[in-house]
Amino acid sequence: MVGNKVRILLIEDEPGHILLCQHALTAERYDFDVKVATTGKKALEILQDKTSSKPNFDIVVLDNKLPDYYGFELLGLIRTVAPDKPVIFVTGYKDDELAVEALRRGAIDYLPKTQDYHKHLPRIIQLNIERNTLYASIKKLHELETRYRLLIETAQDAIFMLDQEGRIQLANRIAERTFGYLSEELLGKTFILLLPDRVVAPYLERAIEDGKLWLLELSGRTIELTGLHRDGQEFPIELSLSSCEINGQVAFTAIVRDIRERKRFSEALRTLNSKLVRAQEEERKKISRELHDEVGQALATINIGLQLIRDKVPENNKRIVDELETAIDDIKNVIRSLRELSALLHPHILDDLGLTSAIRWLVGEISSRSSISIDLNIPNSPTRYAPDIELTLFRICQEALTNVIKHARADKVQIVLEKNRMGLKLEVEDNGRGFKIEEKTKLHRGSGLGIVGMKERVVSVGGQFSITSLPKKGTKISVTIPVVHGSGTHRRLKIQSVDK
Ligand SMILES: Nc1ncnc2c1ncn2[C@@H]1O[C@H](COP(=O)(O)OP(=O)(O)OP(=O)(O)O)[C@@H](O)[C@H]1O
Ligand SMILES: [Mg+2]
Repeated sequence: MVGNKVRILLIEDEPGHILLCQHALTAERYDFDVKVATTGKKALEILQDKTSSKPNFDIVVLDNKLPDYYGFELLGLIRTVAPDKPVIFVTGYKDDELAVEALRRGAIDYLPKTQDYHKHLPRIIQLNIERNTLYASIKKLHELETRYRLLIETAQDAIFMLDQEGRIQLANRIAERTFGYLSEELLGKTFILLLPDRVVAPYLERAIEDGKLWLLELSGRTIELTGLHRDGQEFPIELSLSSCEINGQVAFTAIVRDIRERKRFSEALRTLNSKLVRAQEEERKKISRELHDEVGQALATINIGLQLIRDKVPENNKRIVDELETAIDDIKNVIRSLRELSALLHPHILDDLGLTSAIRWLVGEISSRSSISIDLNIPNSPTRYAPDIELTLFRICQEALTNVIKHARADKVQIVLEKNRMGLKLEVEDNGRGFKIEEKTKLHRGSGLGIVGMKERVVSVGGQFSITSLPKKGTKISVTIPVVHGSGTHRRLKIQSVDK
């Protein structure tokens, strides 16, 4: 159709009929555009004409008798060159068999050539155009439906469509497999069936208080929950729920992913990671001890030897005395650096005197080397905690302070260590330039491991880690670890306090 005009190709050779049809079709109340072909050859030319940019015809009215073609012969050819064009076949009066055959051969309708058949022609054309449009829409709908069904059925996640009450209207094959029900069994049941009571209870309670549908509360979010299989087994899932409107009613799409594998994998990764951290700490401790006890002691012995030699060199041999004294001073410096290095690798003060002393020592070290003012708000009592926890919190503090020095351009830092209901809480807050957390904590080549490492350490001892940062305002690391008091067996009282 061009504009609203229906374009008709009238294939008719009798001038009288042409006139009558044209007259009927161009009456004012119709919006038809009629072109006439008086032979089959001409009609085929018109239908195959590709020179015009417009699609040529919406409907063909074909007379059965033409000078150059038999009706069915031409109908066949039209169906070949223009298969999507509807054809109305005009048959002889009361020639029913012909009419049936025409329909069988692809005509969409027929019209017996009664005396005033031309008067019925416009209505028949209109009906067929409408019917055709309807068929085309239905076909399109079917195609779309097939496409969506395929999309849903071939998805790797369980997909549900829920009505406003949360009743399941559609469930795909993966949904059946994930929860152990047949799709027919799920239809009409509420989605709650697939979640353990204790998981939905809090949402239901809140929803009842708000007068809000519990699904609405979860809508637009992706959350980790627990799913309930038909056999009673619970398993971790990731649920993404979104709401939409169908016929003025709220409806929901729930996409459920079984994350058992992902959980197992990240659990394994976490175990491996904490083993690595432990191995690294052991190694550091060993090296630290060797540096301190072996190399440090050896250097101290050499120094004593040099001092003995110096005492034996006559005073008048000033050059040798000076050189020996320089060597003795150099060795003293090396011993000091060695002790510092040893303490950073593993602060034995942590083993001997506990977390608060170790943090005080660390802060002293940092203050002596930078102009940052560090405000310490930590308990005086030397309560001891499990070695794992003390070491974790010490390392967090160390990494957080290193980050402040390296990145923050801060002049103030506040450290808080306190015991509360949830456990032992450590906060390190600076007033530096801050940063965009999402950008900096994504793992990619060349990115740091400090923050990721802090998180992993905290999680491996069952704690919670959070970091907040505001550009130009500063950064705050907050860690809470559930605690039991340490046995104190970890103490190594032998080691002396560390020189500054
Ligand atoms: N206190 C802070 N102030 C400002 N920016 C920070 C702060 N802490 C971290 N950042 C930013 O976050 C990034 C990531 O920190 P992270 O500790 O993970 O890595 P890193 O310090 O660059 O390297 P690594 O710790 O592995 O030696 C840093 O590069 C820095 O841009
Ligand atoms: Mg860092």
